[in-house]
Order: sequence, then structure tokens, then C-alpha cells
Amino acid sequence: MTVNGTTLLLAGVTKRFGEHIALDAVDLAIETGGVHGLIGPNGSGKTTLLNIVSGVLQPEGGGIAYGDKDITAAPAHRIARLGIARTFQNLRIFKRLSVFDNVCAACSGSGGTLGRFGGLLPRRWRYDEIAPFLSFVGLLERAEDIAQDLPLGAQRRLELARALAGRPKLVLLDEPAGGMTPVETDHMAELVSDIAGQGITIVMVEHKMKLVMGVCERVAVLHQGRLIADGTPGDVQADPLVKEAYMGTRGSDA
Ligand SMILES: Nc1ncnc2c1ncn2[C@@H]1O[C@H](COP(=O)(O)OP(=O)(O)OP(=O)(O)O)[C@@H](O)[C@H]1O
Ligand SMILES: [Mg+2]
Repeated sequence: MTVNGTTLLLAGVTKRFGEHIALDAVDLAIETGGVHGLIGPNGSGKTTLLNIVSGVLQPEGGGIAYGDKDITAAPAHRIARLGIARTFQNLRIFKRLSVFDNVCAACSGSGGTLGRFGGLLPRRWRYDEIAPFLSFVGLLERAEDIAQDLPLGAQRRLELARALAGRPKLVLLDEPAGGMTPVETDHMAELVSDIAGQGITIVMVEHKMKLVMGVCERVAVLHQGRLIADGTPGDVQADPLVKEAYMGTRGSDA
């Protein structure tokens, strides 16, 4: 899914909430493969950008292409079918379902059987179909546990397993290490690198600079809805505009 090496292309993407401009004519090209960081102070528009790419929100202006497809106005389910998965800053796991069933639910849409009244019944997933995803994120031992009983860090890993269960080509991560301990954050860094190593392109929103600088090949920076920098981690860290944007704000929690 590439056009000239670009997987995802945003051109002039603008999003308003009433009078507030959350994204202001953002141009961004995400190359195929690797981990692409998206950083910026609180309220700079990072989650809004992921919401627009994943079809949760529609932009008021500009366009988005995924490979050779225009996905600007595409609904979330179509974007997911095209191979874009995401995680949420505020987790969207099914808290009362087991860890196993959470991943099963994320696999849905890839088959089913016709029910007695003609509706499509979700197909039942075998243990060996789900286990690799749980094993990858270190949750196989907890497959039968109820999701809400997991600590936050494990819930974030479950959310990641759910995103991977749809076998995406592009994964959008919204603060995958939010609320994690340093040890859990290091584990998440390994997982993110492993996923990229499998040829899946990652766009990662994160505040934890050690994680961003450790795993990202490129980093884009949003400030008040505008893209103010886009380059290697070293270039971005040294950029005076970026330093100014973070001045007096919560730039990093690690
Ligand atoms: N549904 C909404 N309705 C109104 N305003 C919104 C909505 N979603 C986001 N905003 C506003 O848009 C701006 C960008 O929000 P967004 O959540 O994208 O920021 P963010 O960069 O993800 O911040 P954080 O680092 O705190 O998660 C903020 O000022 C926010 O208050
Ligand atoms: Mg956010």
C-alpha cells in the first residue's frame, strides 16, 4: 500500500471545534515502514489528528490519502478494513469481557456464519488463532482474566493486542505508555520496535520523550494545531521552535 514510499498523506487538514481550530492546515507525509512519532504539548491536536485519520472525526478542510485511496470522508469501519488500526488514549477495551474475548471481538469482521434469522453471527475464534496476539504482548497467562481486573499497563497492552488482531498495515498509537512505570514503558518500546520490525508502519503519539527518541525514526511536532517541525529525533529536539512550544508546558512526563 504505497505511492512513492508514502503510506499516509495529509494535505491541508483542518479541524475546528466551534471557534477553536484544533488542526490548522496540517501537511504530513508518513513514509512506509518504521515508527513515526507525533508529539506536542497538551491540547496541540495529536489525538484529533489520529481521530481524523481513523475516521472517528471528519475534517472541515484538506484531504487524506492512504496509499492510492482518498480516505478523507471515509467512515471508521472502511478505514479499518483498509488496514489502519488504532489504540485510544482513553482505552476502549471491553472492561467486563475476558482478555481472550477482547481480542476475539477485535478479530470480528473477518468471517462469520448466517444465523437462524439471516443475521451474521460472529465466528468463534480458536485459542490458537488468538494466543499469538496475547503471547506477543505478554498476556497469555491472563487470557481468562476480566479486562478491568488488569493493571493499567496491562490494559494498554491488551488494547495493543486488539489493534494487531485485525492484521493492520498501519497502526496509530495514542500514548501507548500513558500511565506506565519505567519498566513497563521499556517493554512497550520493545513491542513497538518489534511491530515495526514485522513491516507494520506505526504512528505513535507520546509524551514520554525517552520512548519517542528511542524508537522513532522521524518525529513530527504539533503546536496549537500547526505542524511546527518534522524530522529526525535529533533535529526536532534541537529545533528552537519546538523548544519554545514546550516552554512552560508539560513537555515530557519521563
Ligand atoms: N470533541 C471535542 N470538542 C471540543 N473541543 C475538542 C474536542 N476534542 C478536542 N478538542 C480540543 O481540541 C484541542 C486539541 O485536542 P487534542 O485532544 O487533539 O489534543 P492532544 O494533543 O491530544 O492533547 P493531549 O496531549 O492532552 O492528549 C484541545 O484544545 C481540545 O480541548
Ligand atoms: Mg491526546
